[in-house]
Amino acid sequence: MNVRDSEVIEQLLRSHGHRPVMNMEDADLILLNTCSIRDKAEQKVFSLLGQLREQTRKTNADCILGVAGCVAQQEQENICKRMPDVRLVVGTQRFYQLPDMIARLESGLSTREISCELASDFTIPPFQQLFQNSRATENTTAPCPAAPGADLHKQFVTIMQGCNNFCSYCVVPHTRGREISRPVADILDEVRYYTSMGIREITLLGQNVNSYGTTNQVADQPVDFADLLYMVAEIPGINRIRFTSSNPHDLSDKLMQCFKDIQQLCPHFHLPVQSGSNKVLARMNRKYTRELYLEKVAGLRQACPGIALSTDIIVGFPGEDEQDFAQTMDLLETVRFHASFSFKYSDRPHTRSASFAEKVDEQTKTERLAIFQKRQDQISLERNQELVGTSKEIMVEQVHEKGVQGRTGSNHIVHLESGSGLECGDFAVVTITRAGMHSLQGRLKTLP
Ligand code: 5AD
Ligand code: SF4
Repeated sequence: MNVRDSEVIEQLLRSHGHRPVMNMEDADLILLNTCSIRDKAEQKVFSLLGQLREQTRKTNADCILGVAGCVAQQEQENICKRMPDVRLVVGTQRFYQLPDMIARLESGLSTREISCELASDFTIPPFQQLFQNSRATENTTAPCPAAPGADLHKQFVTIMQGCNNFCSYCVVPHTRGREISRPVADILDEVRYYTSMGIREITLLGQNVNSYGTTNQVADQPVDFADLLYMVAEIPGINRIRFTSSNPHDLSDKLMQCFKDIQQLCPHFHLPVQSGSNKVLARMNRKYTRELYLEKVAGLRQACPGIALSTDIIVGFPGEDEQDFAQTMDLLETVRFHASFSFKYSDRPHTRSASFAEKVDEQTKTERLAIFQKRQDQISLERNQELVGTSKEIMVEQVHEKGVQGRTGSNHIVHLESGSGLECGDFAVVTITRAGMHSLQGRLKTLP
């Protein structure tokens, strides 16, 4: 979500005449788009802001220093108190106002701009509207060029924002507000626009995509997430559809059926489980049990044999004892995820678990994380080794001097030693020749 928000901010600023610079010393505006999902991410923001303040004082005292996103949303008062040099603070629903806020600062109409309200009737503006009244002459709605050699053939499309689940550890409902789904027509228009520009892969984004359309009226006829997938798949020119993220308790049979029906839907599902212990899951307010999670996994594997599953895990949630952690390890052995993202629990402001007693000490969290990650790495390697000798279709994502990097539908990264003639966005069939923990090596078989 943050990556997509940063793209929108960049496009918005370009469309109002701002341009990126190569060196930070040349910048008149430095804006950090921030994440506060875990304590570590938030600490990074404050230390980086401190460094930037020192640097800009020396090189360009007029440079506007700003903070956007979840840390801005959550810590606006703190930022203003601790960092008087920060002149722009913009929350998760408000960055669409950035061009006006910057204009007021530049013209001296104000010395500090803060906008962080969360509104229950917030709507994400249609993408055409965002870039209207542009002062620039270039085609500013085009996806921004990323790093040289990077892929411009895939694109995120936000379908909803916010979350109503209130998992007890999670700051998102507090920083991004209640769940709001975008109108179907806006989403389809945006996807059509991208495909007309040659985008081949779309990732539909939301904090909890499975509950798309269930909490606010988004069309005359109710459209749920599975319906939306069928509609997106009808748009000509899309080779791959992905989505993230999903709460297992909202994963419907209808969504599983999509994997049978929609040929463009990539065989990968990121399904955060967080813990393998029912006691911990209940205290996390996840609204499913380990047994239900395993049922969903079985359903997905039945609907889409060979589907790659990834997950998120939190270790050291308050009250997690050795037995609970053993249950998480046992779940890992049962499911054998292709990959996972695992984190040490940290207290977040306004969350219920921040007030739970029985905090797990730091050393135990570190040990549990290391045990989990070590085993996951072995499993990832074993799963990748199973792919050696098979043929896979990749979409090329990066072309460097040393070779080509692509991705399978199942979300495996494949490096090709040589892929002469291949360009970003090309599809090619490769034979997998070697397996690493986090990527595969392949040899080009055929061009489509
Ligand atoms: N502490 C540790 N990890 C967390 N996550 C969310 N909140 C916390 C927290 N307070 C993790 C979850 C989530 C991922 C995006 O971040 O695993 O799925
Ligand atoms: Fe946070 Fe839970 Fe919502 Fe995911 S489903 S964003 S973990 S509250």
